[in-house]
Amino acid sequence: MTSNSNLKIAVIGGDGTGPEVAAEGLKVLKAVAAMEGFSFQLKDFDYGGDRYLRTGDILPAGAVDELRTFDAIYLGAVGHPDVAPGILEKGLLLELRFQLDQYINLRPVQLFPGVETPLKDKGPDDINFVVVRENTEDLYCGVGGFLKKGTPDEVASQTAIYTRKGCERCIRWAFDFTRRRNNPKKMLTLVAKTNVLTFGHDLWWRTFQDVAREYPDIKADYNHVDACCMWMVKNPEYYDVIVTTNMFGDIITDLGGILQGGMGVAAGGNINPDPGGTSMFEPMGGSAPKYTGQHVINPIAAINAMSMLLEHTGQPAAAARIQRAIRAVTATKMKSQAAGKMGHSTQQVGDLVVAALA
Ligand code: IPM
Ligand code: MN
Repeated sequence: MTSNSNLKIAVIGGDGTGPEVAAEGLKVLKAVAAMEGFSFQLKDFDYGGDRYLRTGDILPAGAVDELRTFDAIYLGAVGHPDVAPGILEKGLLLELRFQLDQYINLRPVQLFPGVETPLKDKGPDDINFVVVRENTEDLYCGVGGFLKKGTPDEVASQTAIYTRKGCERCIRWAFDFTRRRNNPKKMLTLVAKTNVLTFGHDLWWRTFQDVAREYPDIKADYNHVDACCMWMVKNPEYYDVIVTTNMFGDIITDLGGILQGGMGVAAGGNINPDPGGTSMFEPMGGSAPKYTGQHVINPIAAINAMSMLLEHTGQPAAAARIQRAIRAVTATKMKSQAAGKMGHSTQQVGDLVVAALA
């Protein structure tokens, strides 16, 4: 964590509705910075599908090195209907996660007051946990290939890579985070599949046991991923912090996203916690191309991502102020969190959060 009185933020609005929701997060930033007395500088980057279609490159030469000089990156959304699936996701989002070594993907699953969850009889006190997803290894590493592609004898392989260093740094960060979070449960649950992935997840399991010894104040717990999906629906109040591998973390955080009211609410941080590391914060919803320009998309997730950005760049008071404002708005001002059903436009929801900051 760095403390900055002048925050340098790179803004990648990205595709579809990404720029619209990012604009609301920036509106809230401007207001909260004035109240908390810090300054910031923004620089816009036009990376995304339109630029790719125009120029043929996703990240120009030197882009990553320039982004490294910022305190944080604020990302709207990635995904363009005219670009084949995988190109922008790999070339922009995953590229930045890997190149900037953002090895923690932090995804809070928190039901805000007034927000509808599909879970019967569960409220904000029950749905309040955090997923720490490893963000640089596993099936995401891009190792694999085809043999005899396009023939009846075709073979495809996709290899999951796990390193001791990679899982240890993530697990240790998760224990530290659980300690800082200081929830009465004080419990970190490793979610994996040790009964089948007897090499890769055995490494995670042994590393988890080793690191747990350094944190006698934290209960070290374990769930298989399939059981975890069941408990997340049946007893979400069981969880405090979950640490998991990249692919399982991807899957269970979409489940978590819907428990907290959907993709209009859920936010995440791609964090490089090492000194000088640059982290990237994003709403979890996609680019929702069909809603582009209609001003109906929910900016709460993007505003929530801005709060996480400030928390991680040394402005915890500003972050907490945004959290309180979001809660006030979801509790009393919004009809629904779904696109087009909020009872307000995208910009009006941003204005409501600004008004609630005071
Ligand atoms: C996410 C997304 C990405 C992922 C995609 C877009 C590559 O689903 O951030 O969860 O799988 O990590
Ligand atoms: Mn995902």
